[in-house]
Amino acid sequence: MPVIKVHDKSFETYLSEETIQQRVKELADAINADYAGKRPLFIAILNGSFMFAADLFKCLTIEAEICFIKLASYKGMKSSGNVVTSIGLEDDLFDKEVIIVEDIVDTGKTLHNFLPKLGHQQPRSLRIATLLHKSEATVYPLKPDYVGFDIPNKFVVGYGLDYNGLGRNLKEIYQVI
Ligand code: IMP
Repeated sequence: MPVIKVHDKSFETYLSEETIQQRVKELADAINADYAGKRPLFIAILNGSFMFAADLFKCLTIEAEICFIKLASYKGMKSSGNVVTSIGLEDDLFDKEVIIVEDIVDTGKTLHNFLPKLGHQQPRSLRIATLLHKSEATVYPLKPDYVGFDIPNKFVVGYGLDYNGLGRNLKEIYQVI
């Protein structure tokens, strides 16, 4: 199994490009079915979700809108827990079918703190699509609606996810050794 180095840590392949792409297509198919006849607004959370959001969006056959916002800072290999205000949300969410797009839900703190802020705008519905879910690490009451992969509580990089700024460009997802 190929081992790569990012900064000071070694990582091994965990999810191949093919496995990721197939699962993203399955999630898009589920969304296509659930939102048939509707026009959801995807709110992708930067930086980590940009690849997942792009691939998911390409597989949609329904009408849909997308915007990108920035929320939290994440330093090193531990969640900083500092959720900052969202930057870049210009759309009015009133009566919209909103789907949040995340790269990973870890403790759940980021979205748990952020969702009420969106809720105030009274969207018609509000769901979460996340590529990865560390469900055993999730301590905040949060249940993502669309989950690509439920993964163990180990640090991962690749496909948009970084370790101190590096690794986002990798087509596969790698797990720390
Ligand atoms: P949460 O608030 O603890 O759910 O953390 C969510 C954010 O932490 C994600 O959007 C990522 O930016 C970051 N994060 C959590 N786990 C990992 C990981 O294994 N690799 C890279 N980033 C991670």
